[in-house]
Amino acid sequence: MMTSSARHERLLSTSVLVIGTGGAGLRASIELAERGIDVLAVGKRRKHDAHTTLAAGGINAALGTMDPEDSWEQHAADTLRESYFLADPAIVEHVTRGAAEGISDLERWGMPFARESDGRISQRFFGAHTYRRTAYAGDYTGLEIQRTLVRRATELQVRVIDTIYITRILVADGTVFGVYGFDVVDGAPVQIRADAVILAAGGHTRIWRYTSSRRDENTGDSFRLAALAGAKLRDAELVQFHPSGLIEPDDAAGTLVSEAARGEGGVLRNARGERFMERYDPERMELSTRDRVALANYTEIAEGRGTERGGVLLDVSHLSREVILEKLPRLYRTLIDLQMLDISEKPIEVAPTAHYSMGGVWVEPEHHGTGIDGLYAIGEASSGLHGANRLGGNSLIELLVYGRITGSAAAAYVQGRTAVARSTDAVAEARAEMTGLLEGRGRETPRRLQRAIRDLMTQHAGVVRSETGLLAGLETLAELEQRELDVTAHPDIAGFDDLAHAFDLKGSLLAARATLESALERRETRGCHNRSDFPEQDDALRGSFLWSPDAGVEFQPATPAPESFRDLAERSDGERVAGTLLE
Ligand code: FUM
Repeated sequence: MMTSSARHERLLSTSVLVIGTGGAGLRASIELAERGIDVLAVGKRRKHDAHTTLAAGGINAALGTMDPEDSWEQHAADTLRESYFLADPAIVEHVTRGAAEGISDLERWGMPFARESDGRISQRFFGAHTYRRTAYAGDYTGLEIQRTLVRRATELQVRVIDTIYITRILVADGTVFGVYGFDVVDGAPVQIRADAVILAAGGHTRIWRYTSSRRDENTGDSFRLAALAGAKLRDAELVQFHPSGLIEPDDAAGTLVSEAARGEGGVLRNARGERFMERYDPERMELSTRDRVALANYTEIAEGRGTERGGVLLDVSHLSREVILEKLPRLYRTLIDLQMLDISEKPIEVAPTAHYSMGGVWVEPEHHGTGIDGLYAIGEASSGLHGANRLGGNSLIELLVYGRITGSAAAAYVQGRTAVARSTDAVAEARAEMTGLLEGRGRETPRRLQRAIRDLMTQHAGVVRSETGLLAGLETLAELEQRELDVTAHPDIAGFDDLAHAFDLKGSLLAARATLESALERRETRGCHNRSDFPEQDDALRGSFLWSPDAGVEFQPATPAPESFRDLAERSDGERVAGTLLE
């Protein structure tokens, strides 16, 4: 039997340890390195293939290159309103005010943004934005951002080890002192001592069956790491279902069909050929808010107006082939690769897909500290910007803005440290957990239980939820939690992936519990969270549900937004949309 305990435990050290080598982790690492702080970034997936590379359609900043009337206040107002007034206004302000700087950082580091003929950065419409403010690079925006950040991190000689899976954050007396994990290639256990840890390891959308996350991404590991370290989760139930994911082939079900397709003029039809958005949002049509388009697609399919395979049709075939190849090159290629379908000739069958964790680790707006000294969370692992409906393009800008802010805050924190406390018990617990998984004689395998979680979340916590369904989901989850106790990992000659899957499973179970318990408490319909038994929005629930393994769910009312953008946000939909979405 291959065990990791038979190998020597490696001991590494750094000032700041960053978990995650996607856009958020790299941006924070760059900030630390530029400030002369020793930083080590670790990840369970190769940095060139981080989830950020899948982000397609664009990144938001009120640059006003196309619509000079745009402003950070309007961007903030759109973000707040689309969050259904659940977003933390201070986080909204930091992101929207800091967005232009985020873009100019990327420009300085060589990001190839699409440009107009006079050199201005092009900006396109994304759903529910008042103005064109989504900058892009075809529909490969995330890939180009990741390449740009990798290049800059390499110039700065940032240490990156993208084969290390972190299983525990180590805490002594309420303060972080490092992490524990293992090398997925050779299985060696690894202890990394660090004065601060930045968690940037994504969300939990892979716990649904139809998801835009690939295998082993966004499995909820961030949520578990933070919760076991003593942090709280916020808004776990608020999961964005993107309106358009592929429905086949089965092993790629949920793959994103970028909103850029609708931004460039794509239309949605049901199997009867009806352009059904006329019934849901006649003003904004396909560029309505994501939650509404997702619900519309869901409803058409659920009420029997979908295709035989259970989708609706997204059509860009009326656009010229040149426009498709220039503006939607990834989409074109993906459909040829996966379905041999030429989108310049035929429509695409799509259905809602779990796309983004709008909830995540609770963080302070000033620096994304988690309330545990020395532990920060950024990117999809964190929460507070999106509330109940995220504006497309806001996550990429968030990771740039808070990567910078949090990197700088962590730098100041470690520079101010004078003493270090460590706990041998915390290390022993992490070590024992790993050994137990490798040396047990359990008969359960992680992959099968992962699939069972995904089925249960799809059945009971999808686009539309109800108390009966959520309670049934919790009952099944309790059975899966019992079965997980019987999991043994079986690494083989190829590596220790199975041990990673076993820890992913733990993360997914915790994330599923947080989601179901919080969803049960949110007895209203708001944004992405549709309760068939509570179809109205309830003003008393304008706030967040915080969750922790010990305390369960507690309610935290939303903070009022400052006047600078609150008034703009409170304007009615009709007023704000008229004449702006159709070019
Ligand atoms: O549809 C998209 O391209 C997704 C963008 C986003 O989620 O921000």
